Amino acid sequence: MTLQAQTLSAFLPQTPAEPLPSVDLQTFRFVMGSFASGVSVVRAGTKQDRPRGLTCSAICSVSIDPPLLLSSVSNRSGTLAAILATGKFAVNILGAQGQAVSQLFASGAEDKFERVRWEPGTLTGSPLFQVTVAHAECELYNAVEAGDHTLLIGRVVSGGTEQDRLPLAYWRGSYQRVSQESTPRVT
Ligand SMILES: Cc1cc2nc3c(=O)[nH]c(=O)nc-3n(C[C@H](O)[C@H](O)[C@H](O)COP(=O)(O)O)c2cc1C
Repeated sequence: MTLQAQTLSAFLPQTPAEPLPSVDLQTFRFVMGSFASGVSVVRAGTKQDRPRGLTCSAICSVSIDPPLLLSSVSNRSGTLAAILATGKFAVNILGAQGQAVSQLFASGAEDKFERVRWEPGTLTGSPLFQVTVAHAECELYNAVEAGDHTLLIGRVVSGGTEQDRLPLAYWRGSYQRVSQESTPRVT
């Protein structure tokens, strides 16, 4: 066991107590839906091997060195199998104009990629869209099954941003607009 793992294990109970029952699904959804997020489309596959993609709001930054991000994908997603098979994926963070793309990639449509404009990413070949505020190309670093989802940890190998666009946001089950009013961060 590494020193770090030993230190962390000191915080865990040695003999786990009887687990408390889980919160009901509706409360869980209300609580987590109150965390405002952006919306992304996570995709895998190249032009040759029929790309797959899904709308995903469960994205977060994990580590700076190496640069890692995390995407939580349902074990029932067809895109998950494609990512695990290729070991590569792209995250496209949608701009305010991306609501229709979000709806398309949240659907079970078979021809998602025939209905949108996209280009293969330069390093991984993973599809990249045009209605984005940013994109990242990733190599799969780790995949951890957690309940009915799998946490895909990707090492970012390439990325870019569009400075003049506002993002698409999602909060409490609805798409939201982000206003340009901003308050400087106090550091
Ligand atoms: C705004 C929004 C956010 C979503 N976020 C996620 C997510 O974080 N993880 C996930 O597995 N599914 C998420 N979904 C649902 C998937 O996009 C949906 O199940 C999709 O049909 C899966 O496609 P696939 O089976 O082709 O991979 C989200 C849907 C919407 C509309």
